[in-house]
Amino acid sequence: MLEQTVTIVANERDTDQYFRLVLRAPQIAPRIQPGQFAHVRILPLKEALLRRPFSIFQVAGDTFSILYKTVGKGTDVLSRMRAGEELSVIAPLGHGFTVPPSGGETPLLVAGGYGMAAMFLLAQRSPQKGIVFVGGRRRVDILCEQEFAALGWEIRVTTEDGSHGEKGLVTQPLLAEIRNPKSEIRNHKLFACGPTPMLKAVGKLAEEFNLPAELSMDEHMCCGVGTCLTCVIPVKAGAAWEYQRTCTEGPVFDARDILWEISK
Ligand SMILES: Cc1cc2nc3c(=O)[nH]c(=O)nc-3n(C[C@H](O)[C@H](O)[C@H](O)COP(=O)(O)OP(=O)(O)OC[C@H]3O[C@@H](n4cnc5c(N)ncnc54)[C@H](O)[C@@H]3O)c2cc1C
Ligand code: FES
Repeated sequence: MLEQTVTIVANERDTDQYFRLVLRAPQIAPRIQPGQFAHVRILPLKEALLRRPFSIFQVAGDTFSILYKTVGKGTDVLSRMRAGEELSVIAPLGHGFTVPPSGGETPLLVAGGYGMAAMFLLAQRSPQKGIVFVGGRRRVDILCEQEFAALGWEIRVTTEDGSHGEKGLVTQPLLAEIRNPKSEIRNHKLFACGPTPMLKAVGKLAEEFNLPAELSMDEHMCCGVGTCLTCVIPVKAGAAWEYQRTCTEGPVFDARDILWEISK
């Protein structure tokens, strides 16, 4: 983990409220593992003390990128920054996904909205290809479909308004695949990143069908490095349970360990 001032190489709109930010960070880029995040201080923001966490989307040479949605003050100010300006980042942070080994279970990636950002490196670095289930409210919430297809992954799209792919929630085609007696896939492993209700639904499916699953939890964070305890979730610990920090023990957890019934 490094704290560095890095330079913006590009910051371009992707679709609607989504932007792609490319940062030159030669010391950070080679250390990044799939599912890790960067904690970004947006220097022009007046309340700059509080950093914002973003999954690391892609790594290329001495750069890494972030795919973000503008939702509030920080991301709005970030979206107006231009190439050549600087940001302070702490990265790479957190415990990421386990890259599926070749010949192991077939990975089923499940992403909602900007959750796709956490999935790209996993898909790119996984020798075992599988299926990406991507969901969003509208067509514009379906991100980087072509880039996943170019990696050789099958993509199944759902939108809540039916404007692209199947109408409904992302867990519908996932359930259909798990239940499909004609599917050539015998052993599945689920990996998910997206809004908490989606993660909970994926966790319940994993439990019901006794499938291994890794979930990247989306909790509000302050320090991002394990000291403030803002981001804790209840996790099984032997016969008991304990709070663990999503910024350090997570954001990726084994679905079997998450105690949804005690969660905030
Ligand atoms: C591990 C992790 C990885 C993330 N990766 C990405 C990513 O790849 N791309 C991306 O666009 N966003 C990502 N987020 C969410 C991102 O951190 C927030 O959207 C961002 O901090 C909002 O900052 P803001 O100042 O614009 O909004 P604020 O003004 O702080 O808040 C605006 C709205 O966003 C909500 N919000 C703030 N933080 C979160 C959060 N963690 N989850 C859900 N809602 C939030 C607030 O409740 C409020 O409704 C990630 C969050 C975590 C914890
Ligand atoms: S955000 Fe401070 S401990 Fe996790």
